Amino acid sequence: MCGIIAYTGDRQAAQLLLDGLSKLEYRGYDSTGISVIDPKDGPKVHKSSGKLQVLLDILGNNLPSGTIGIGHTRWATHGKPTDFNAHPHTDCSTDVVVAHNGIVENYLEIKDELQREGHKFASETDSEVLPHLIERFMAQGYTLEESMRNSAQRIRGAHAVVAASRHEPGKIVAFRLGNAGGIVVGYGKNEMLLASDIPALLNHTKTVAYLGAGETVSITNNQVTYSLLDGTPVGKKPSQVSYDPLSAAKGNYPHFMIKEIHEQPEAVVNTLRERISFDEFRTTLDEFPFSDKEVREFNRVVLIGMGTSLHAAMVGQTWIESLTRIPTEANNSSEYRYRNPIIDKRTLVISIAQSGETADTVSAMEMAKNLGARQITLCNIEGAQSTRIADGTMFIRAGLEVGVASSKTFVCSLTTLLVLAIYIAERRGTLSENHARELVTELSRLPNMLGSLLSNEQQYQTLARDYGNYSNFLFLGRGINHPLALEGALKLKEISYIHAEGYQAGEMKHGPISLIDKNMPIVALIPQDDLYEKMFNNMNEAAARGGKVIAIASEGDSEVEGIAEHVIYVPATSPLINPIPMAVPMQLFAYEIAVHRGCEIDQPRNLAKSVTVE
Ligand code: AGP
Repeated sequence: MCGIIAYTGDRQAAQLLLDGLSKLEYRGYDSTGISVIDPKDGPKVHKSSGKLQVLLDILGNNLPSGTIGIGHTRWATHGKPTDFNAHPHTDCSTDVVVAHNGIVENYLEIKDELQREGHKFASETDSEVLPHLIERFMAQGYTLEESMRNSAQRIRGAHAVVAASRHEPGKIVAFRLGNAGGIVVGYGKNEMLLASDIPALLNHTKTVAYLGAGETVSITNNQVTYSLLDGTPVGKKPSQVSYDPLSAAKGNYPHFMIKEIHEQPEAVVNTLRERISFDEFRTTLDEFPFSDKEVREFNRVVLIGMGTSLHAAMVGQTWIESLTRIPTEANNSSEYRYRNPIIDKRTLVISIAQSGETADTVSAMEMAKNLGARQITLCNIEGAQSTRIADGTMFIRAGLEVGVASSKTFVCSLTTLLVLAIYIAERRGTLSENHARELVTELSRLPNMLGSLLSNEQQYQTLARDYGNYSNFLFLGRGINHPLALEGALKLKEISYIHAEGYQAGEMKHGPISLIDKNMPIVALIPQDDLYEKMFNNMNEAAARGGKVIAIASEGDSEVEGIAEHVIYVPATSPLINPIPMAVPMQLFAYEIAVHRGCEIDQPRNLAKSVTVE
């Protein structure tokens, strides 16, 4: 979950590290630190609890000098977010500095051993065992790189670790174990960088290589070597990334989230580009890795994901099952990986992970791979871990998403999933020509539909004034729109800190209806589809008990106005397409309420964009 940046080269490192951290803050932001190695005095560490701005204020213009350094932005696991627990951590004599992402599962045992040897610890973190382990090995005559490898073999869990030592000037060494987030190696001119994610490198280079699990890398300003943990050299070719640093800028928008919500029409155009033939009403997926014969042999589809990506998976379940007629299930990756599921080579596993780094999803994918499953991953980040496990990747092409709350990555994941469902159905012959024509036609309208939903933001500001001070909300949906109710509740919870629950409307009478009174606003998702009447009755039942209903309904439906206090209209479309435009009112509703409450929208408390620990 944490973000790491490291630099060695000709330029002063401090400013560069701080800039890199500003691009990584989405990974965690409860404390920050940098260490720059002064050529004469060795490493100097500056760190603080709080966001990067706190550290920037402390440092002011007094940046430490030196051309090699390491920076870290933390999402606390072990030890509170205090100054002492912030990274980088050092050994006893501040010769070695370390930044770490992951959890050292056996740290208590190692700490105990090191303390008995006389090592002094300055923090409560699990991470601090690393500089002390390295110190111990270096004292025994090992190089920094060898000491890193030896340390890697002592610790359990998944990790990304970066270290430098005053005894090996100009050098930085990193290793990666398991799925604790990646390390990207950036190749500059007379300089080299390491970072947890590509955006931190883009101002300096677009030539990168990715560190695999079980690999180490050692960099100086003009040299890079890769090896396995046993020292066996690894050959690696860097590649070019296509991100534009400008796309990460906020422009005139007050928050990245609202900017990203507004980017959805264009993002969806990118998602669909060259994948749908609007003349022939069919799909083309060059990246699809399986033959038609293999597609006909699939007898089960399993979708996995977490959070918003799990909600996309749940919508995908209905799409894939109804269009392809293959039994399909959506699963929470963190549960699925421990479930001992039935998987074989006729199982198609589809993972949804916009970051491609979510620890539970990546581990579930690895488990499925070991059991012989065929896999496709939906991802937004080139070179991410998930893309290296799956047989094929469908990039959702949302563009860089900085806001921690997913918006455009959700809509693009949904769009990609629907294209995939249609493609598989075409290969299996389960989709009639008429139905294909209807779906493709509606997909072609999607960018316009999303655009029209962005044109009346005023109503969300009014809603935020009327509803922004309630403490609880219910979101109700049925069928394919139930996951959207879950997503609406998640959006509201994570950015406005209001308690919200998403339910299948049919479940209300089995318990939750007892919660309804005048203090419980209800967001009812009621587009025109086969379940409309049932949903209408559920909405009525809620209103009859004093609940204030905000309905999200299809344009042209005036019936709902008789019951709901407020109606948000979405363009009428085919029932299977409905969940995609439905997503937008949920995002805008949560966003405006969070603005009204003065919340930190792009970096909600306790959260991180990539959850790289389980
Ligand atoms: C929701 O707004 C969150 N960003 C979160 O639920 C997210 O969808 C989840 O952590 C999964 O991320 P992934 O798609 O990168 O795997």
